[in-house]
Amino acid sequence: MAGSPPAAPQRPAPQRPARPLRNYDLVAGVYDLGCHVYSGGAIAASKRAHLRFVSAGDRVLYLGVGTGAEAVEACANGAAVTAVDLSPKMLARLRRRLDARGLDAELILGDALAHRRSGQYDAVVAHYFFNLFEPEAMRAALRQAAALLRPGGRLIVADLAPPRGGRLRRLLNHAYSKAATAAFLALRLAPWRPNYHYAAECRAVGLQAEGTIPFRWAGAGPIFFETVVARRPDRPPTRPPPTPGPADPN
Ligand SMILES: C[S@@+](CC[C@H](N)C(=O)[O-])C[C@H]1O[C@@H](n2cnc3c(N)ncnc32)[C@H](O)[C@@H]1O
Repeated sequence: MAGSPPAAPQRPAPQRPARPLRNYDLVAGVYDLGCHVYSGGAIAASKRAHLRFVSAGDRVLYLGVGTGAEAVEACANGAAVTAVDLSPKMLARLRRRLDARGLDAELILGDALAHRRSGQYDAVVAHYFFNLFEPEAMRAALRQAAALLRPGGRLIVADLAPPRGGRLRRLLNHAYSKAATAAFLALRLAPWRPNYHYAAECRAVGLQAEGTIPFRWAGAGPIFFETVVARRPDRPPTRPPPTPGPADPN
């Protein structure tokens, strides 16, 4: 048509988060102990919390499973476990844990974000995984994780809690979580990124946030960790989901 300006070229939407992180082989031997000391046991507790939402016979997928102590428990309870990780050493530790209990699971060495079994899982578990990504990539990863759930299935995320409450509590949370983020950044295990508000992020990808379980440092200290449970609706929503605000710039 004469006179109409040429259409501006469209940039394709990002399909998947950028560059996967591969340094976890270096820390596989000390990862669990490091987490235990850093959190006074709260990280392990936040990961065990998902077990109450997993029943015998459920198909459960773990994204970035690591050494997977809690995946072994799900397996022992009768769940059909699939676990994906980029680190051969992390997965080897998980395999040894399973063997020691006479259990089996499907372990996949590879990029969890390339896992394409849409709608197949009763539960998708992401423990300290989405925080490996900067905000835009994290949202793409969350969308992919949600697509792997069957209608009515649950996404369960354990991670650092975002700062909440009064000034002192927010300051404490900031200092504590940024110390860990700086260490992870130095070891090239994670980028510099905020602590995410996963309940809001889950709603933004069309999931129904069912609840947030807080975990205190060493069981009695400040709330530095949380487990968020969100459900894929049985039917697609009739209204578009709310857009979350900008990630906390902490
Ligand atoms: C912070 S660790 C958490 C491990 C475990 N979920 C836990 O909570 O103990 C992150 C894990 O994700 C794995 N990982 C990183 N990027 C990945 C990706 N794109 N696909 C699969 N695994 C990935 C790492 O190898 C590592 O084992």
